[in-house]
Amino acid sequence: MRRIIAPSILAANFNHLEKDIEMINRSDAGFIHCDVMDGVFVPNISFGIPVIEHVKKIAQKPLDVHLMIVNPDGLIIPFAKAGASVITVHYEACKHLHRTVQLIKSQGIKASVCLNPHTPVAVLEDIISELDMVLLMSVNPGFGGQDFIENTYKKVTQLKTLIEKINPDCLIEVDGGVNFETGKNLFENGANVLVAGSFVFNSENPEETIHQLKIL
Ligand code: DX5
Ligand code: ZN
Repeated sequence: MRRIIAPSILAANFNHLEKDIEMINRSDAGFIHCDVMDGVFVPNISFGIPVIEHVKKIAQKPLDVHLMIVNPDGLIIPFAKAGASVITVHYEACKHLHRTVQLIKSQGIKASVCLNPHTPVAVLEDIISELDMVLLMSVNPGFGGQDFIENTYKKVTQLKTLIEKINPDCLIEVDGGVNFETGKNLFENGANVLVAGSFVFNSENPEETIHQLKIL
């Protein structure tokens, strides 16, 4: 089973972002998770295309771009051009999700859909065959450092069943409140990609924390 750690640079130190990206480059991380927030879909604003372009210049790992923005269609091509390898859009933010997913794939990059904690896995049944990854939020999106919502384990299991039936290559990513305990349970339930922000960057040795998460 594929296991990927995706440190979220939302928790990095923006006074020395380059140093933190270099740490991720050296580490066992598989993706660099970039949390883009618009202040409308979520009650917070983070960063956008110019920051992603600069991260791309020094990143040696694929950029996993999580768009927490309403009606993302007009920004898919700019984010792909900025260097995203995977773009995740929210189910709750797209009027024509199938069209948005095709637009992402037309850029030659991977397409992923995210579900908020209150959105049931079953809504993905008619789109899952098109997806490279599904992102399950295990906190309400908008902020790092929140407590993990336990109901996520059940959703990972449900999603794994759906994926095995329809699209076995699709990855399961989980985002929010990941630490050694929740991370271990998530991997055991079938998650493939763990996003970790504050747990990695607030730790004494972030590079070692990434390594330990990967071998849980
Ligand atoms: C929340 C973001 C997460 C967040 C995770 O909206 O999507 O990626 O940075 O942060 P932690 O790992 O601190 O819960
Ligand atoms: Zn995220």
